[in-house]
Amino acid sequence: MTVKVLFVCLGNICRSPLAEAAFRAEAARLGLDADADSAGTGDWHRGEAPDPRAIAAARRNGTDISHLRARQVSAADFETFDHILALDADNLADLRAIQPAGSRARLSLLLDHVPGREGEAVADPYYGDDSHFDVTWRDVTQAARALADKLARQEAA
Ligand code: 4NP
Repeated sequence: MTVKVLFVCLGNICRSPLAEAAFRAEAARLGLDADADSAGTGDWHRGEAPDPRAIAAARRNGTDISHLRARQVSAADFETFDHILALDADNLADLRAIQPAGSRARLSLLLDHVPGREGEAVADPYYGDDSHFDVTWRDVTQAARALADKLARQEAA
């Protein structure tokens, strides 16, 4: 059965598109049957491509995210997805506030899946430079690897 995973940040143009791409790569590496998507809690960038600096960071790491388009998270996402991963604590609080009662998605903080990094945020690189986007890529790759490993073990169980 395909596991469906959604990554959510604020704008859906910096962190969550990178998380989506990193997770796709890790799922492919493990042969995990998974679908990934990303969204933002805000709607300011709806329909836009990822930030050029995020596209460049992905490209430096061998991945193209230029085709992705930003969208806002919706109530339906809480039924569509098995897991919704928040990039920081504000994103998680905003998701909890709009989660329909009884919906099936399991919410968590992305870095909670990395042993030793529980409670940490993937920092917002929006006001940073290329080096901040490289940190974002490292963070989301580490988390995507841990999450994909966990889901693969669940699939095998
Ligand atoms: P993201 O970064 O949440 O990682 O996509 C941001 C993108 C846009 C804004 C803030 C953060 N903004 O204020 O427009």
